[in-house]
Amino acid sequence: MPHATEPVFQHIQVTKLAPTFGAEVTGIDFNKPVEPEVFKEVLDAITEYGVLVFRKAALDDARHVAFSRLFGELDDVKPYLTLGRKNRFPFDELFDVSNMEDDGSLVQVDSKRDHTSRGNSLFHVDSAFNPRRAGYSLLRAHELPPPGYGGNTDFADTRTAYDDLPAELKAQLNEADYIGANSLWHSRRKACPHSEFLRDIDPEAHPFGRHRILQLHEPSGRMNLYIANHLHHLEKADGTRVPEPEGTALIESLLTHATQPKYLLSVDWRDPGDVICWDNTAVMHRAGEFKGMGKFKRDMRRTTVHDGSSTAWGLNERTEERMGLP
Ligand code: OGA
Ligand code: MN
Repeated sequence: MPHATEPVFQHIQVTKLAPTFGAEVTGIDFNKPVEPEVFKEVLDAITEYGVLVFRKAALDDARHVAFSRLFGELDDVKPYLTLGRKNRFPFDELFDVSNMEDDGSLVQVDSKRDHTSRGNSLFHVDSAFNPRRAGYSLLRAHELPPPGYGGNTDFADTRTAYDDLPAELKAQLNEADYIGANSLWHSRRKACPHSEFLRDIDPEAHPFGRHRILQLHEPSGRMNLYIANHLHHLEKADGTRVPEPEGTALIESLLTHATQPKYLLSVDWRDPGDVICWDNTAVMHRAGEFKGMGKFKRDMRRTTVHDGSSTAWGLNERTEERMGLP
């Protein structure tokens, strides 16, 4: 159900994209810094709708970073750059989510980078595997493939999915208050199980990001199902594991529940400059099928805002550690 009290806006125009979440925002001039009263409405809009689309926003790399800073403290790409990887961009806050190698050439089908990037094709939330999870992500299209090759970004409304849980399951989850153990390696292996680059990696040999799967979304006061394909296993309040196969069966049933068509929104990328901003603590997302891999550039750049809520660190030690890319 749509929220009873939807916000009213004075400075921006907001058009809903799906019955329960997602909106397109117009009326912002991105050529100049976004004024505080305008930004306040952007925050109200993302709090309500979880996903905002800005078409042909006039943001370059610097303005993308500057606009993102209004949302909070930004994650830094440097800790992720392992094994000789370099950032293509002169901004440490800009993550390369393209299908391009660091030298700008196209990622080849079945290369290591192709296999590891396929994890993004499963529904997830950014940085659940890190000690401090991500709040907002702002993804911008710099260069797009020709139309007809897919490459949408899809979203799932996990607040409404929580609301709609069968009463018995909801009560069981509230009673147990499970902790999810999230791993980037787990979702990568799940997306590409036979990969020669991934099959010998043991997620258990790496740290997990531990966050409760039922969370209050503090900005909206609604409950959220904080789940993702990063979920490797569940733990009980006392830290013991939920036994298998029940644990994995519960993870899979929650993911299946939350990704029913009625909770989904698929956003197409139309023009360079298009920006999608989402709240990782209210929605899941995935890269939809892209048929131009190895043929056309899909040059996507993302800033990642650290979560500013009281549960940002989940049950993790407050370390600067990130899960490095291979
Ligand atoms: C991301 C992501 C999906 C896409 O940037 O975090 O998952 O469509 N992107 O590129
Ligand atoms: Mn992502």
